[in-house]
Amino acid sequence: MKITTSLIKADIGGLAGHVVVPPKLEEFARDKLKQAKETGLIIDFYVYHAGDDLQLFMTHTRGENDPEIHKLAWEIFVEATEKISKPLKLYGAGQDLLKEAFSGNIRGMGPGVAEMEFEERKSEPVLIFSADKTEPGAWNYVLYKVFADPFNTAGLVIDPAMHSGFVFEVYDVYEHKGVKISTPEESYDLLALIGTTGRYVIKRVYRKSDGEIAAVSSATRLSLIAGRYVGKDDPVLIVRTQHGLPATGEVLEAFAFPHLVAGWMRGSHTGPLMPVSLRDAKCTRFDGPPRVVGLGFNIHEGRLEGPVDLFDDPAFDETRRQAQIVADYMRRHGPFMPHRLGMEEMEYTSLPIVLEKLKSRFVPVEAE
Ligand code: F6R
Ligand code: MG
Ligand code: MG
Repeated sequence: MKITTSLIKADIGGLAGHVVVPPKLEEFARDKLKQAKETGLIIDFYVYHAGDDLQLFMTHTRGENDPEIHKLAWEIFVEATEKISKPLKLYGAGQDLLKEAFSGNIRGMGPGVAEMEFEERKSEPVLIFSADKTEPGAWNYVLYKVFADPFNTAGLVIDPAMHSGFVFEVYDVYEHKGVKISTPEESYDLLALIGTTGRYVIKRVYRKSDGEIAAVSSATRLSLIAGRYVGKDDPVLIVRTQHGLPATGEVLEAFAFPHLVAGWMRGSHTGPLMPVSLRDAKCTRFDGPPRVVGLGFNIHEGRLEGPVDLFDDPAFDETRRQAQIVADYMRRHGPFMPHRLGMEEMEYTSLPIVLEKLKSRFVPVEAE
């Protein structure tokens, strides 16, 4: 049976700032998706939040980019904005809804989308990840570790089904182009691209031996869509696991190091990506630190069994502690790079105004 999993999310309003999605928004979305389940449009769903981003995880048999599924998500975001976010004056009400009218596909309209269609296996474990206060390139490090680094994923070395490696589809989000790169033989080419996390973003990963889809991310850049600051994209990710794919624990292992990502306060700072439980999926200190939640399901005939709140575990306490230490260390740089992002990556800047003000006071100097 071919199943499609669609994870669609948007920031349509936060409580007390860009902190967290209020429960009322989640309840609204749940009601709407329950109706869609009753009509048979979707098979199952799970609604949750990561910080100020409302997350709709849906299963169905309609394939990727299905207009009805995208319309369902779009209308939930629009209606919830009108009925809840605006009357309650939630912060940034409707922030990610960049277009007026729905045009058949939610891609490019503001919300983030990750979708994959696959033949359901004998057992189908699927993990979903949602991050807040960062960008899609934040998954690059994680996906490389999971699917190409044998020091992370033992199966790359000792599971014959994975031994030939994985193919990475990388998007250039500036040029709107994609390229498929095969590992392990082209690992260095892959790293040469994906180390530039603001531009080259891993969109999909396939098992090389049979082309089976293993992972898909949301790979948009809102600021590039809108041509102005509209917040970071706060990405999502779907990963299938086990039986010839990385084990659940091999996927989670990649999150044990709180690597530095772009985003945090005003989308203009570098900070550690901290894995947290749903309970702690809210952004506080300096609007962060950037956080990721992970949920694990088993899918059977499209129905969702779960979730397991994957980071709700003392095994990640040390990662969180390291993230706090790194957060302290980075914060002490204040407005200095590399804590503050480079000029081209900052989503807030006063530089043009400052330069204009000082224009007449800049005088020629001798080159030293
Ligand atoms: C980052 C983010 C927040 C805001 C910050 C300022 O993606 O959403 O850190 O940038 O809270 O928000 P405004 O300018 O709306 O007060
Ligand atoms: Mg926000
Ligand atoms: Mg957000």
